[in-house]
Amino acid sequence: MTTLPRTLGADTARLESREKVTGTARYAADHARPDGLYAWAVPATIARGEITAVDTGAALADPAVVTVLTHENAPRLAEGDDPTLAVLQSRHVAHRGQIVALAVATSLEAARAAATAVRLDYSSEPHDVLLSTDHPGIYAPETANGGHPADRLRGDFEAAYAEAPVQHDAVYETPPLHNHPMEPHAATAWWEGERKLCLHDSSQGSSTVQQMLAQLFALGPDQVLVTSEHVGGGFGSKGTPRPHVVLAAMAARVTGRPVTLAFARQQMPAVTGHRAPTIQHLRIGADRDGRIQALAHEITTQSSTVQEFVEQAAAPSRTMYVSPASRTTHRVARLDVPTPSWMRAPGECPGMYALEAAMDELALACGLDPIELRVRNEPDREPDSGRPYSSRHLVECLREGARRFGWQDRDPRPAARRDGRLLLGTGVAASTYPVMVAPCHAEAHARADGLIDVRVNATDIGTGARTVLAQIAADALRLPMDRVRIRVGCSELPEAPVAGGSAGTSSWGSAVHKACDGLRRALEEHSEVPATGLTVGADTTEESKGGKEYARHAYGAQFAEVQVDTATGETRVRRLLGVFAAGRILNPRTARSQFLGGMTMGLGMALTEHSTMDREFGDYAERDLAMYHVPVCADVPDIDVHWIEEDDPHLNPMGSKGIGEIGIVGTAAAVTNAVHHATGVRVRSLPVTPDSLL
Ligand code: MOS
Repeated sequence: MTTLPRTLGADTARLESREKVTGTARYAADHARPDGLYAWAVPATIARGEITAVDTGAALADPAVVTVLTHENAPRLAEGDDPTLAVLQSRHVAHRGQIVALAVATSLEAARAAATAVRLDYSSEPHDVLLSTDHPGIYAPETANGGHPADRLRGDFEAAYAEAPVQHDAVYETPPLHNHPMEPHAATAWWEGERKLCLHDSSQGSSTVQQMLAQLFALGPDQVLVTSEHVGGGFGSKGTPRPHVVLAAMAARVTGRPVTLAFARQQMPAVTGHRAPTIQHLRIGADRDGRIQALAHEITTQSSTVQEFVEQAAAPSRTMYVSPASRTTHRVARLDVPTPSWMRAPGECPGMYALEAAMDELALACGLDPIELRVRNEPDREPDSGRPYSSRHLVECLREGARRFGWQDRDPRPAARRDGRLLLGTGVAASTYPVMVAPCHAEAHARADGLIDVRVNATDIGTGARTVLAQIAADALRLPMDRVRIRVGCSELPEAPVAGGSAGTSSWGSAVHKACDGLRRALEEHSEVPATGLTVGADTTEESKGGKEYARHAYGAQFAEVQVDTATGETRVRRLLGVFAAGRILNPRTARSQFLGGMTMGLGMALTEHSTMDREFGDYAERDLAMYHVPVCADVPDIDVHWIEEDDPHLNPMGSKGIGEIGIVGTAAAVTNAVHHATGVRVRSLPVTPDSLL
């Protein structure tokens, strides 16, 4: 038998890279049809109240305008699981920017003009949009997101904290943040007869979109076909269906023609989710050697009146460090704001910002190097559950990062390094993200011509998922990559979970591996492939329940060097280094991009990204990429990414942990810790803006 180079772990370019760079890859709105219509959404201009009158006369006066849908004439939807999808179903306005009408016309321009010509009268009620820890509406939810219990109490925190010789007590705040993927939320929808709904949608998982639309339009799942072949980013905001799919499907139903709808960038902040703001009270009590005796992490966050959503920001404090006594809680207020949602590393990202900033402050209070403090608080079992870790190489990440970054030469004194009018500083923070996996189906089919078709409804949101799945398939088949034809991104393929929770590759890959491994064995029993081919299906429902006897998390260490201009207060990041331990890296090229992208987003969180709730209007003030500043090339230094090879047998057949989200975790703390080291100023409210340093 000839030995093939392993395809798994190989530096493989994206299979669709040519389509992407030549512009031939088609995204949801690119599927607009010559006979099709365009729609433009109309957002509510009040933050709470009711629509009292609708006047579409002026809008409909243009012959190019086919219809205007409002709650008065839109098709009635069946009850669904997601209340944010019940669009145009009632006169009630729950937040400003909620979609209250949809103009449909033969051109995009006409639809847009018609949308501005729709007249709606409202009766407003006073709105309540600002989060504070003393908001009267605050309550204790039963669970935070991800099924985490809202509260966990271990030991007697108050007593242990009171006795601790070193105490750190501070409040950290993160603002609302918006995902802003490059491709907006968009769909092209059409009906084939009364009972077949077809869509191209920009989503992180078309199986989910299919199921939700089937609910709302009272169809069977096989009566809804959703394709998400290419997706220009999502970062969580496309992890659940958004109102645009429902609106496009409604408009296509009413007009009997294909309809394309893309949200304008300015509309997205109100209807595609946001990372909820958090107010995080951290108290850490340690002995003089820096060993943590008591840890409290108490979260206050917001949701909308439409849906409970509780950012699980205290969850990482349950698993990260030794903490004999621990108190981790979540409180939430339901405000007249848009419904928050998933954004890259929900929970871990804001939670670890606060924990890792607090650890930096504790290190100073103990007179310890911040790396040494973390090493001293390394648990040998997961504190919250008592389970052993399947693998945990945080210390190795910290040490390898320290070596590569040149940490050993650091003068720990704040504001000690100066370069002209610049102050320089370095900071470190740890990162973590849980290993998650969901049941998945896949199919492998050997064709008579020698090629293997692999089918799974994975979604490639720009991560390189389709390429990595082809690598996994080839590896399991023990065939070269060019024998594999992978198909993803359509709900007619075997059902698969969303690209979310950094669980895509683990979930889809396990099913692909199982199907391909099964097919390889089946082929070994045949001297030749039958003319009709040979098919093996896989379902990983059972496997996905396994591994619960171990605590499974990925870890990393983030290092940052910043310069702060003493005249302007401007902070610029000079260097970023991330060292991660995330199981086996299946494709170094696409993996590096995931880490880099996450770290870049963390840099934005540290310095520039924030959405400001306007108290008067009840709306987010930043509604485009000029106002909501995501890092651009000029903001981003050369980011250095490394990883530690981990051989963890308790994960999945590929030995991989998730890599899509951990890159953002800890980055903001590394940067703000560096800002403190540079200036001696501790900013505990993100982002660090010039005015907070002057
Ligand atoms: Mo990610 S925020 O789990 O899509």
